[in-house]
Amino acid sequence: MTDLSLELLEEAPERLLEQLAAIHRNAFEAIGQQGWSASQIGSTLRHEGGFAVVAHGEGQARGFILIRVAAGEAELITVAVHPSAHRSGVARALVAAARMRLEAEGAETLFLEVRSDNVPAIALYEKLGFSRAGLRAGYYKTTAGERIDALMYQLDLG
Ligand SMILES: CC(C)(COP(=O)(O)OP(=O)(O)OC[C@H]1O[C@@H](n2cnc3c(N)ncnc32)[C@H](O)[C@@H]1OP(=O)(O)O)[C@@H](O)C(=O)NCCC(=O)NCCS
Repeated sequence: MTDLSLELLEEAPERLLEQLAAIHRNAFEAIGQQGWSASQIGSTLRHEGGFAVVAHGEGQARGFILIRVAAGEAELITVAVHPSAHRSGVARALVAAARMRLEAEGAETLFLEVRSDNVPAIALYEKLGFSRAGLRAGYYKTTAGERIDALMYQLDLG
């Protein structure tokens, strides 16, 4: 994407939350998972230490990342890119922007959990230098009732 711009937010108007929910729904439905509603995204953002980076391109929001930080430890809560913008470096740019903000405020580690069947997300995290930090067996339950492991990853900052 040639005109990608990134916006750092600690709160978002309802109209933007609706756009982010549409991105989340499209991104997660493409991998057979359910996306979040605008109010779920809004309440996560309002948590203490929460912030988002939104990527805009070609006149609209294309993807976003939600982070929460407390006592020097940060968690990547979710990242989603609209399927029409996949593989154009949007997620890479979102993680880089979040990382810059976290390093500026002195956070030491960025943690995340991902379903073990989420091949694109695992490829992204490994490409960006996250390392495997553990596994929670059967942590996720699919709509069909199947149990799927969670993989935990971490990235040392600073
Ligand atoms: C995972 C996701 C955020 C990646 O977004 P993206 O903007 O397409 O990723 P990028 O273009 O920044 O990719 C950066 C690198 O990650 C890796 N990668 C990303 N998607 C990949 C895929 N489908 N297959 C293999 N590698 C992939 C590649 O190494 C890629 O670099 P390259 O394109 O130069 O090879 C996107 O697929 C998505 O929204 N998925 C659904 C939601 C989701 O799974 N979120 C994470 C939940 S924990």
